[in-house]
Amino acid sequence: MGHLTPEPVRDYLAALRCDPHERLAVIDDEGRAEGLPLVYPDTGALLHALALSCGARRILEIGTAIGYSTLWLATALPADGMMITMEYDAGRAARARDHMAAAGVADRVSVMVGDATRFLHKIAGPFDLIFQDSDKQLYQPMLDRLVELLRPGGLLVADNILWNGEVIPGYVTDKKYNDTDTAAIAAFSRRLAGDPRLYTSFLQVGDGVSVSIKRAS
Ligand SMILES: C[S@@+](CC[C@H](N)C(=O)[O-])C[C@H]1O[C@@H](n2cnc3c(N)ncnc32)[C@H](O)[C@@H]1O
Repeated sequence: MGHLTPEPVRDYLAALRCDPHERLAVIDDEGRAEGLPLVYPDTGALLHALALSCGARRILEIGTAIGYSTLWLATALPADGMMITMEYDAGRAARARDHMAAAGVADRVSVMVGDATRFLHKIAGPFDLIFQDSDKQLYQPMLDRLVELLRPGGLLVADNILWNGEVIPGYVTDKKYNDTDTAAIAAFSRRLAGDPRLYTSFLQVGDGVSVSIKRAS
């Protein structure tokens, strides 16, 4: 995923960042070496801060990969908190489980292997925070169910809303992504912006992050 923050600014902010668990660096190194699309560390730090700020006890994540963003979120949970994370790819899910065990948070993280579209109708809310980071074309179709699963005042966070800047027509000449995914992300953001159930802030963190708060009524 593209990083839109200039490198000196990124380095300056990275030097100030305090990572809550040493295993994060291990997962990050492993994932980047394989070219896996993990969240950037600044996005991970934002997820951790948001989970702490809303006192999250129940977290749902769509798109685990090998557990990098999972660990940023899980380390913000209290000891009796719980997190469900969903991953289509069985190999990645198994590696995520191994990382959670090595980090000592396996007791509060459940990795569900399979299609999240189906799982979402089998689990019960409410969740305090939901992180959407799966197939970009599924962001819109999943939105209504995710809002249902969120408690009033809870947070729905989505990654890649800037998509390497490609959501801005004409801005990126050397494109990395297909137009269908780009259009799906742009349409999702427009829908969030106009959704009366939510108040959404769109942030230039990492590859762009939306933070939506579910209104009380
Ligand atoms: C961008 S990666 C997730 C990265 C992870 N959140 C992190 O930052 O560490 C997206 C993941 O979502 C998974 N995925 C895509 N569509 C899915 C679906 N319908 N159900 C479950 N997982 C899905 C992919 O297999 C992939 O591993």
